[in-house]
Amino acid sequence: MQAKNQKIVVLGTGGTIAGVSASANEGLAYKAAQRGIDDLLEVALGHQKHWPEALSDYQFDSEQVAQLDSKDMDFETWMHLAQRCEHWLSQSNVAGLVITHGTDTLEETAYFLSHVLSTAKPIVLTCAMRPANFKDADGPQNLRDAMLLAATTHELGVCLVAAGEIHHSQYVQKVHPTRLNAFDSGETGMAGRVHNDRVEWLESFNSPKMTDKLRVSQLPPASKWPWVEIVMNHVNASALHIEALVQAGVKGLVVAGTGNGSMSTKLKQSLVLAQKAGVQIRLSTRCNQGSVIPTESHIFDATSGLSPVKTRVALMLDMMSQLQSH
Ligand code: SIN
Repeated sequence: MQAKNQKIVVLGTGGTIAGVSASANEGLAYKAAQRGIDDLLEVALGHQKHWPEALSDYQFDSEQVAQLDSKDMDFETWMHLAQRCEHWLSQSNVAGLVITHGTDTLEETAYFLSHVLSTAKPIVLTCAMRPANFKDADGPQNLRDAMLLAATTHELGVCLVAAGEIHHSQYVQKVHPTRLNAFDSGETGMAGRVHNDRVEWLESFNSPKMTDKLRVSQLPPASKWPWVEIVMNHVNASALHIEALVQAGVKGLVVAGTGNGSMSTKLKQSLVLAQKAGVQIRLSTRCNQGSVIPTESHIFDATSGLSPVKTRVALMLDMMSQLQSH
């Protein structure tokens, strides 16, 4: 381990991990994004005498990049976060990054970062399901696990650790609104576990091949990102919102289809019209596992294995990439 003079940088963006409730017994009603990243780090470092060997030589630095409930995450904050990641990653004494984030949109941020940052250094997101002042707050342990992972893991790209589970940014989804282990990687499964300050990789896990889309420096200002929305097929789905979106100038639509990407005749007709009007359409499934397997009946491109929210990010990046090459 060449940790001397190496540091792990912890970037704070808010979330429940930085949340505060009215009392130490209240774990569900609280305000997210109240405590600064320095406070969170101090609590985690407070347990330093019990730290694993792997971390003992590292220094830690922190930066408050944002302070929000991740339901309000936006493209300006994504740009700023990605730029700050690039800044720290370019420094030779930075071994890896940890990012604290709200659980609600973490998978979208992780997916976005994994496609705009090109580095062999680890970028580990972490979070909490209970606020920082809760009696059994899960944040401090998650933060320690993330720092351990950032110090010991290479070439994994962007990943998440929470409740002792390591998930890859490509596969991870929040699947439970309140449980401590709220994340899952579907059929692929988690990448590993952190248990008792030891990282255990699962042999069954294969790292996905990540395709670069754009560098952060190639992204246009957030205000110029293409407008892409998600529409879902369901019983008696109306197409009125699609017509309204096209009228309003939407540039891309992701369909959360039923089953293997099916959709009602009404929805399909309206999407065909939208496509003729220049709107880019991408197909995904509202099933929370598996991928759409294209058949002759599919008339829209599908993004393999991605949830609707990640398909939306992928489509936006593709559209920005197309603009670059013109
Ligand atoms: C958030 O996503 O910022 C709030 C919820 C959470 O972190 O669990």
